[in-house]
Amino acid sequence: VTALLDTPVRADRVARARRYLMCRPDHFDVTYGINPWMDVTVPTNRDLAIQQWESLRATYLSLGAQVEVIDAVPGLPDMVFAANGGLVVDGRAYGARFLHDERHAEGPAYLDWLSDHVRSAFPAEQVNEGEGDFLLVGDLLLAGTGFRTSRAAHAEAQEALGLPVVSLDLVDPRFYHLDTAVAVLADDDIAYWPGAFSESSQRVLRRLFPDALLADERDACVLGLNAVSDGRHVVLPTAAVGLVDQLERRGYVPVGVDLSELLKAGGGAKCCTLELRG
Ligand code: ARG
Repeated sequence: VTALLDTPVRADRVARARRYLMCRPDHFDVTYGINPWMDVTVPTNRDLAIQQWESLRATYLSLGAQVEVIDAVPGLPDMVFAANGGLVVDGRAYGARFLHDERHAEGPAYLDWLSDHVRSAFPAEQVNEGEGDFLLVGDLLLAGTGFRTSRAAHAEAQEALGLPVVSLDLVDPRFYHLDTAVAVLADDDIAYWPGAFSESSQRVLRRLFPDALLADERDACVLGLNAVSDGRHVVLPTAAVGLVDQLERRGYVPVGVDLSELLKAGGGAKCCTLELRG
């Protein structure tokens, strides 16, 4: 009882209508290894991946979100990870430019789609993997670097979108994209696992978000932070039990999903989801 009374409960979490872009894993597989989660010797089950993806999509629809779907391209097994396809704020899209050759062709495929569906789209010159490494919190853009997205892209995105960018250094290869280590819960609230960041970047996060939810390593290691929030409902892996509990105590409604097949490629719910803003 004491613990409950000590915990500030916010019952006023409000959902905002969201619009997402997703890509069905029609050509999903693990045929190369570009992050430590990917083991080409472990077999994948594409039908199961599609089933799990369909239930993620159904979850979003049941929460009132709008979901757009881009056609999957044969030969691009990671294209299911739509978050990497760009960054869209106020109807302006900043295109992705992938680090690895294996994913290179996804950049133009996503930019083509975005050019037809949002107000304006800018191709990127600098290496960046879209919302994998760029997370919007209110009017602030958190930007990861260290494994994929270049620091130069942080400056490029700031100019392209006119948003202040805060660069953060990722240091643990298991958390190779920012969206594996940080979850944006609301316009002024995030969850993160400090161990994924350099000491200095941890200090930056503490200064900006002194009240943030701190996840533990166990939840981070099931990609619990690869979560999608509409401001009230937080879609995340059921396996992240500690996080589920902490979210409830902060007034959020956790919604569990199982994406075990996509986890074999190092991805979770957020990776499969690109938010279309404005
Ligand atoms: N296999 C993909 C890669 O390594 C996974 C991408 C996950 N996407 C994300 N937004 N974290 O590039």
